[in-house]
Amino acid sequence: MAGAAVPVPVSRHAAVVVVLVLAAAHGALCGSSHVELAAGVVARGGNAPSLRAPRANVTGADGAPAPAPSGSLAGCGCGPRPAPWQFLNQKLEALWPVIQAFKKTITCDPLGVTATWEGPDLCSSYFNGTKYKGFYCDFPPSANTTLTVASIDFNGFGLCAPSLAGFVDQFPDLALFHANSNNFSGDVPDLTHLPFFYELDLSNNNFSGPFPDAVVPLGGLLFLDLRFNRYAGAVPPPVFALTVEALFLNNNGFDGRIPDSFGSTGAKYLVVANNQFTGPIPRSIYNTSATLSEVLFLNNRLSGCLPYEIGLVEGLAVFDAGGNEIAGPIPLSFGCLRDVEELNLAGNQLYGQVPDVVCLLAKTGKLRNLSLSDNFFHSVGHHCMELVRSRVLDVRRNCILGFPDQRPPLECAAFYADPSKHCPFIPHIPCDLPGYHHPPAKAALPAAAAHGHGHSQPQGQGGGN
Ligand SMILES: *[C@@H]1O[C@H](CO)[C@@H](O)[C@H](O)[C@H]1NC(C)=O
Ligand SMILES: *[C@@H]1O[C@H](CO)[C@@H](O)[C@H](O)[C@H]1NC(C)=O
Ligand SMILES: *[C@@H]1O[C@H](CO)[C@@H](O)[C@H](O)[C@H]1NC(C)=O
Ligand SMILES: *[C@@H]1O[C@H](CO)[C@@H](O)[C@H](O)[C@H]1NC(C)=O
Ligand SMILES: *[C@@H]1O[C@H](CO)[C@@H](O)[C@H](O)[C@H]1NC(C)=O
Ligand SMILES: *[C@@H]1O[C@H](CO)[C@@H](O)[C@H](O)[C@H]1NC(C)=O
Ligand SMILES: *[C@@H]1O[C@H](CO)[C@@H](O)[C@H](O)[C@H]1NC(C)=O
Repeated sequence: MAGAAVPVPVSRHAAVVVVLVLAAAHGALCGSSHVELAAGVVARGGNAPSLRAPRANVTGADGAPAPAPSGSLAGCGCGPRPAPWQFLNQKLEALWPVIQAFKKTITCDPLGVTATWEGPDLCSSYFNGTKYKGFYCDFPPSANTTLTVASIDFNGFGLCAPSLAGFVDQFPDLALFHANSNNFSGDVPDLTHLPFFYELDLSNNNFSGPFPDAVVPLGGLLFLDLRFNRYAGAVPPPVFALTVEALFLNNNGFDGRIPDSFGSTGAKYLVVANNQFTGPIPRSIYNTSATLSEVLFLNNRLSGCLPYEIGLVEGLAVFDAGGNEIAGPIPLSFGCLRDVEELNLAGNQLYGQVPDVVCLLAKTGKLRNLSLSDNFFHSVGHHCMELVRSRVLDVRRNCILGFPDQRPPLECAAFYADPSKHCPFIPHIPCDLPGYHHPPAKAALPAAAAHGHGHSQPQGQGGGN
């Protein structure tokens, strides 16, 4: 989509632009296999950082001016059915009534795109024409001489329709459906019979109700984006066993615990931020170490202790669990996150010392933002001092004596006196840190010495809950 520029991504991700080389599941469609994937997914209305753009830019905003926006549909204006010979092939002839039937159900169309959905030229965009905005054609692998609709991209069209059933599911060669920023609702249709389908973006729409079960059996799915809807309730455990590389569930009303199947995810980008999830971050997260690169838990109601197993996910570049109710010291295993650039744990119930090994990551690793404000830390490791000065580390509103902008001493005392907040301290470091010697075990939590301090917990890999 020319025209649908990604709005300013959330700043903290602006620099985390990843070039993804996709093993093309649908080779014939491949315009280019390298696409920039910027994880600005917590910004409303942002275009899906999808695995691959459709054949964009061949129509629409950069071509002839769009038809005058009609604001609302003045009747369907479907026009007469073209004669069979007018269609490029029978596949397209069969799709014409599908599109026209869907057009009749559309109740708002602020950009007037549906006015272009008329006549026999469904693949207009392929020939740089201006008909059938939102539809993109290509040669499917199964019939590589027959041009047909391979992707549908309605991003930013603002269309309203009560259901997608009978529409998306009627394009046998469809690989992508992108509908960011529309007003679609209703059930997600069964797409299991579409052999090439691999990207579903329903973000920033009007979907509600329980998690759409129809997506769970989609074995070929690589990209699933449901963010900014009104879905609610539990997320079924098999969702985390999907083969997706990107899974965006943020800004809905999902609740309940994050299932232990979390550890099965093969996703590289996983965002569950801004929901109502409760319970701990699953310890099965250790099992994602081969794939997980960016994970955002922020702004839920997660609790429990910060799992040691996070430190085993070596490829993590972004870990964000800010704005929850997570307790405990930061496990020293976090010192093994050599690739981590952004580590946000602000706004939780964390305490003890900010580990020196974590601050060292700014020197030996890639760490450039360590957000720990609004917790209950009482001290910082030696190497943390310079990070505070260089503003890489934010420890405002903690309990650090002599630091500016800390919590009132009484609040800190009350916190440290409450044993319900306490978690075991796990000194084990599951990696070699050059030049690092394990500290004497006194560092972590003098005030809570009676509660679990110094426990030696699951050494090594830890179980998956
Ligand atoms: C779309 O085309 C315009 C010029 O026609 C170009 O400036 C722009 O970069 C293109 N966008 C994409 C996404 O290819
Ligand atoms: C459509 O436009 C692209 C880029 O501007 C060009 O490479 C291509 O040849 C055009 N296709 C047709 C059928 O005109
Ligand atoms: C189309 O398919 C035929 C047989 O399935 C194959 O020989 C040919 O190489 C394919 N062409 C393209 C462009 O993929
Ligand atoms: C959906 O419709 C509501 C109510 O008409 C409107 O406020 C909202 O902006 C629409 N959303 C989109 C993404 O067009
Ligand atoms: C959003 O969905 C609700 C049903 O869940 C429906 O009543 C409402 O009309 C929809 N809004 C728009 C703008 O389509
Ligand atoms: C680990 O991941 C694999 C798939 O990658 C899955 O089959 C297995 O059940 C997962 N184990 C745990 C404990 O999460
Ligand atoms: C660091 O991360 C926090 C939390 O994600 C963010 O609010 C802050 O703006 C970031 N700081 C910088 C300098 O990027």
